[in-house]
Amino acid sequence: MSLNINSIMPLNIVILAAGQGKRMQSYLPKPLHQLAGKPMLDHVLDTARTLNPTKLIVIYGHEGQQLLAAYPSTNPQNQDITFVEQKTFLGTGDAMKYAMPALDSHAKVLVLYADTPLIDADDLKKMINECSEDTLSWLSVCLDNPTGYGRIIRNQSGQMLEIIEEKDASPEQRNIREINSGIFVAPEPFLKQALPQLHTNNTQGEFYLTDIALLATRNHLEIQVTQGDPLTVRGVNDRIQLAQLERLYQTKATQKLMLAGATLIDPARVEIRGNVSAGKDCIIDINVIFEGTVTLGDQVTIGAGSIIKNATIESGTEILPYSVIDGAIIGKNVHIGPFARIRPNSIISDSAKVGNFVETKNVQLGIGAKANHLTYVGDATIGAHVNLGAGTITCNYDGNNKFQTVIKDHAFIGSNTALVAPVSIGINATVGAGSTISQDIPDQTLAFTRAPLIQKTGWQRPAKIIKS
Ligand code: UD1
Ligand code: CA
Repeated sequence: MSLNINSIMPLNIVILAAGQGKRMQSYLPKPLHQLAGKPMLDHVLDTARTLNPTKLIVIYGHEGQQLLAAYPSTNPQNQDITFVEQKTFLGTGDAMKYAMPALDSHAKVLVLYADTPLIDADDLKKMINECSEDTLSWLSVCLDNPTGYGRIIRNQSGQMLEIIEEKDASPEQRNIREINSGIFVAPEPFLKQALPQLHTNNTQGEFYLTDIALLATRNHLEIQVTQGDPLTVRGVNDRIQLAQLERLYQTKATQKLMLAGATLIDPARVEIRGNVSAGKDCIIDINVIFEGTVTLGDQVTIGAGSIIKNATIESGTEILPYSVIDGAIIGKNVHIGPFARIRPNSIISDSAKVGNFVETKNVQLGIGAKANHLTYVGDATIGAHVNLGAGTITCNYDGNNKFQTVIKDHAFIGSNTALVAPVSIGINATVGAGSTISQDIPDQTLAFTRAPLIQKTGWQRPAKIIKS
């Protein structure tokens, strides 16, 4: 009978994000502080969504307008979130009371904290399975240094009975190393009955959500405990803890990359702010930052100091030091950099070369094409084996509009050439150095502009004027 009820209990998730976060000493609400390149709340939302809840509720409050502004309802990505404002700031138990009207009746209610960003989805799934109409499921962890956390109190047979906040704990209780993560799953009918019974009779004068554990024990509900990994259960109360969690996150992320077959010269000096996948035998030098979604093929090398964001880089390609790549697809056996800037919508084909101080944007660079030095190519389609000499500039912008440059296969553009778009250069055409090209050049044609050369034989430079 109880199995049948459980199988139809929907999952609701409540994320508590209203607290002041006093210890952050910040104008920014704590949930918006970034971990691995995105707000802590985003990490929690992403994990919550993998559990397919029927309700996803965020309780907001302190600096609430800033928080709401970060998640505009006009963005389809945010449309599954119900924001509920906590109007009083009387603790986690108070916050939870605001969630109650938004819950499905008889739901399994998973409570997450916006300041505990790295929770593990598998732990949560296990806990959700354990929760029933008469069972709560709680996430704890044993820490070497439990300072600041609520302690899990168990009876002699190991059954969890209640949680005592550190500030209310006896010295003996403070020696307990098993702490409350804050995360639990409880049946909605129990919460409805328990929350009104919370009180503020404690050191902090707050409604402690953690007191529902004792109420469950008194009402003969069972509390199942899952012990999590310290990394996934750690909360962030101040910026030191935020930095520590960032390090732990980075250690795990770089280890994953190494286990997938990438060599990181010094994993402590590589930052992963997003999702990176790498084929075999990639070599990543120091001070490289990855952002967004990055896919590396086999044997890709990334030089020191490079920043790679939202990019696909295919096998055998070498990114030389201090290159910045954002929003690009880069083919096989390409050479980029040092000091190259590849901007959004750049498609760099196989075996192309983009050298130092070259900027590309909204460009297709053909197979084997070269832009080796000091060049800007924007809004252009460059054919195969084209050579762009040093100082080639596509003049793509008239101050209001952008125009296209087309350079067909095997064309050769001499150094210091300005290509005034819209303009097209034909197959195998040659443009002489120092030209300004403002009309289309046919295939197989030499084109150049020249200011006349003036020579004055025996010319004397002016003598220095001596000031009296
Ligand atoms: C809480 C737990 C503690 C646990 C620790 C884990 C309580 C009473 N204590 O303590 O047992 O070990 O988390 O990290 O719950 N919040 C609101 N409204 C409020 C107060 C807080 O939404 O009025 C939110 C915060 O934004 C935060 C979360 O609840 O996301 C936890 O609040 P915080 O004040 O950080 O609790 P801790 O003192 O860390
Ligand atoms: Ca906290």
